[in-house]
Amino acid sequence: MPNSFTILDVRDRIHQARSVTVLTGAGISADSGVPTFRGAEGLWKNFRPEELASLDAFARDPKLVWEWYNWRRELLATKQPNAAHEALVQLERQLPDFWVITQNVDGLHAMAGTQHLSEIHGNIWKVRCTQCHNVCHNRDVPLQFPPTCIDCGGLLRPHIVWFGESLAPEDLECSYAALQRCDMLLIIGTSGVVYPAASFAPAAKDHGAFVVELNLEATPHSSVVDVSFQGRAKELVPLLL
Ligand code: OAD
Repeated sequence: MPNSFTILDVRDRIHQARSVTVLTGAGISADSGVPTFRGAEGLWKNFRPEELASLDAFARDPKLVWEWYNWRRELLATKQPNAAHEALVQLERQLPDFWVITQNVDGLHAMAGTQHLSEIHGNIWKVRCTQCHNVCHNRDVPLQFPPTCIDCGGLLRPHIVWFGESLAPEDLECSYAALQRCDMLLIIGTSGVVYPAASFAPAAKDHGAFVVELNLEATPHSSVVDVSFQGRAKELVPLLL
């Protein structure tokens, strides 16, 4: 892993950049008390997220899947953005071109005030009708089962991209455009194993971006990026920006 750049070097580069794109994962919200996906504390009743976050699981047992999302909503309802989310809002104010691509569904970037944002895996505070596909905001905790669409009476599901489902084409389009035009990509708190986000670092590098990773530990991204810093997002991000 090439690590000949210091935090100060990267800070200088950020200040010289015109266009910065940021890819975030569960690690940025870990410092707000949100469990990560692949950490043991993310488990619920011994189910792995992969066993519940799928169309098959929902078709088999929608009540069980909604119980899990109610547990997650309850957990997230009290969480606030941390210093890392807030530092990104400051950076957005300073740059002519800035985009956050997040895999997180917790809504904390938007709550912090990030304007240019693609929530590529959806948002836990939105629901979608399985019949008419209408999407609405909903912050009920818990959501009574079965939740139904006010327009057509169809069963509502979480507005989240589940395993085996495709990302919304408009989110992919915005994300790739941001990856292609950025001078710098910051990758914060993602294990780098879920596609397509796992392919974003090479995509930005192919277009000439300087790529920086911030994570507690080495990941598959670490061998691709220009520099990788290990530490907590809420400490590293404000230090860099
Ligand atoms: P993971 O749980 O896979 O990875 C979290 C990453 O954050 C790990 O690499 C940790 O080392 C790092 N980390 C933990 N605490 C940190 C901290 N305080 N500061 C910095 N880094 C920290 O979460 P994601 O990579 O986001 O998809 O997972 C990607 C997707 O997999 C999720 O969006 C979800 C899941 O399946 C869907 O729900 C569709």
